[in-house]
Amino acid sequence: MTSHEAEGPVVGPETTLAAVALRGDPYMALLDRYGFDFCRGAARTLGDACAAQGVALQSLLTEIEEVGTRASNDGSSPTPADWNQRPLAELIAFIVDTHHAFTRSTIARISRMLPKVVAKHGAQHPHLQSVAATFGELAMEMEPHMRREEMVLFPFIRELGSSPEGPVTPPFGTVRNPVRMMMREHDRAEELLASLYATTNGFQPPADACIAQKTVYAALAALRIDLLRHMSLENDLLFPRAMEAELQKLSRARAVTSPGTPTAP
Ligand SMILES: [Fe+2]
Ligand SMILES: [Fe+2]
Repeated sequence: MTSHEAEGPVVGPETTLAAVALRGDPYMALLDRYGFDFCRGAARTLGDACAAQGVALQSLLTEIEEVGTRASNDGSSPTPADWNQRPLAELIAFIVDTHHAFTRSTIARISRMLPKVVAKHGAQHPHLQSVAATFGELAMEMEPHMRREEMVLFPFIRELGSSPEGPVTPPFGTVRNPVRMMMREHDRAEELLASLYATTNGFQPPADACIAQKTVYAALAALRIDLLRHMSLENDLLFPRAMEAELQKLSRARAVTSPGTPTAP
């Protein structure tokens, strides 16, 4: 089996950024290195993205192939699971247990350290005030966002996946409504992450940074990468699958209530 076969369909100019990012963290890191926006620009093809940013498409395709080859050789596949084939409940559990847990613990850690760094070095490094304000907004947005997913949206999606025939009457009308809201919140989170990235010069601490400041920058960088992966899994895998499951359920329900309705040839 070739590396391409191991990792899925061959990647080419028409492959979307989302399809590459969803192969796993090494692929996402590669796209990130080129500055591709695989969260909001997820539907863009590699060909278009390369043309827009002046990146040589063929070089990128070669690098993508090398990522797959390295993963095959060291036995650590960057595609941990084919989430399209796994039950929705399993994907949700993965998102909550890994990404939500990491987001919460990392935000808590940064929240403890950042005020001390600002207090100590804010005078020499005024941009730290801006970092603290942007991070504060991100932290304020993420906790209620994840809680809404865990308390409202994810239980509904879990039910869609586990009882495709059973009645579901969501209080929010259709799953598209909370999905739209969650995606708007993802957009805002991505804007805040982009602002943090720019303000900190890509999370490069100044030459005279103390250990605490370096630690905070490293934690912010890790938070950004994990959040981008997390939002990509939701935007490009979980939410489309949930909307498709709801559509199928509705069409089955219609067929049961109107059994004489002719179906399309
Ligand atoms: Fe989430
Ligand atoms: Fe989310």
